[in-house]
Amino acid sequence: MIPQEVIRMKRNGESLPPAEIYAFIKALAENRISEGQVAAFAMAVWFNGMSAEETVALTLAMRDSGDVMRWDGLGKPVGDKHSTGGIGDNVSLMLAPIVAACGVAVPMISGRGLGHTGGTLDKLESIPGYDIFPTAKRFRAIVEQVGYAIVGQTGEIAPADKRLYAIRDVTATVDSVPLITGSILSKKLAAGLQSLTMDVKTGNGAFMESLQDAEILARSIVDVANGAGVKTSALITDMNQPLADCAGNAVEVAHAMQFLSGNKGGTRIHEIVIAFASHMLVNAGVEGSLEAADAAAERALGSGRALELFGQMVAAMGGPKDFVENWKRHLPVAPVIAPIAATAPGYVSAYKTRNVGLAVIGLGGGRLKPDDAIDHRTGFTEILPIGQRVEKGQPLAFVHAANEADAARATGAFLDCVTISEMPVEPAPVILKLIS
Ligand code: URA
Repeated sequence: MIPQEVIRMKRNGESLPPAEIYAFIKALAENRISEGQVAAFAMAVWFNGMSAEETVALTLAMRDSGDVMRWDGLGKPVGDKHSTGGIGDNVSLMLAPIVAACGVAVPMISGRGLGHTGGTLDKLESIPGYDIFPTAKRFRAIVEQVGYAIVGQTGEIAPADKRLYAIRDVTATVDSVPLITGSILSKKLAAGLQSLTMDVKTGNGAFMESLQDAEILARSIVDVANGAGVKTSALITDMNQPLADCAGNAVEVAHAMQFLSGNKGGTRIHEIVIAFASHMLVNAGVEGSLEAADAAAERALGSGRALELFGQMVAAMGGPKDFVENWKRHLPVAPVIAPIAATAPGYVSAYKTRNVGLAVIGLGGGRLKPDDAIDHRTGFTEILPIGQRVEKGQPLAFVHAANEADAARATGAFLDCVTISEMPVEPAPVILKLIS
């Protein structure tokens, strides 16, 4: 395999033989090709796409670039959910313990923020002591004891994706169907799952802005995963506004704690968490119908069992043993918290959602370069949903910032993201389509 030949073929729109893809990905994982060559390859794929056969080869090559976990002897089905990325998308934090409480083991390998979107790992790192990289042995032990664990991708799991992901993040090559399919599924197949439920986001805060593109991505992921023996379906969900009523890191963990304690609803977030729990329980085979699965998920949430498991998981991962009782004391808090006042009366009618994510990055809550440290304290809370009536001067949200200057800048950026109209507006439904 000559890397520049592989790049040339893809640049010219030719189909790559699976053996060439395997060899290229192996060389990528072993650092035998340069960052420039990887970036050129990613850009060639971005422009010319890949056939179904090439996408399967890419996914399997990335899976096989590291260890493939096995969960024999667990005595439970093993399932997971993955999102293509959004703003205020803290669903995994609440969903995984609900599903674990219902009898499905969830070994969740999550990512950091990518592009303008937030990452579950960055959120969890707001919790003091939480070690996102336990050994493989410890990861397994926690999944066995607690029922789930949320960890980072170590060098042993799909190392080819780890390198390619970091290069795509800074070369504008994230939003490509074959690259997203290969990236997500290489990690999920390496995690040894039996079932997977995908959250494919669409809208102005998603990588796939149009419903049509989201459907193409969902179909690609569902087909490749089912073809590899993992029972998979996808829900296409709306990302035309932040999903939870907050965006950031510690603020999203705080929201998850309130949700799991029964103190924070919001119909959109509740609907999506329960819907994903139900599909995961049905895909894993522990419930026979979505209605029965809905009831099981509501019981796990309402009884406090999911909250209990969250606390056990945090403690097992190195976080405080009393996190559930004292999360307010443990989570870092920004020194400046200020309301963002509506400049006119009316109805919240639209968000530039991507820009809300960029405003979080501007507050230090995300990265500009792969190795940047992030400020977990920052972000936005109490973001009003689309359709909500506001009066002039009333808060549209609260900004959490490291200092007054950042707060002022982020307030301006946030106001620029919100449209207020005179007429009432109906928000889009949160769940748009099932692809199975
Ligand atoms: N999540 C991933 O893990 N990879 C992508 O490419 C996009 C979202």
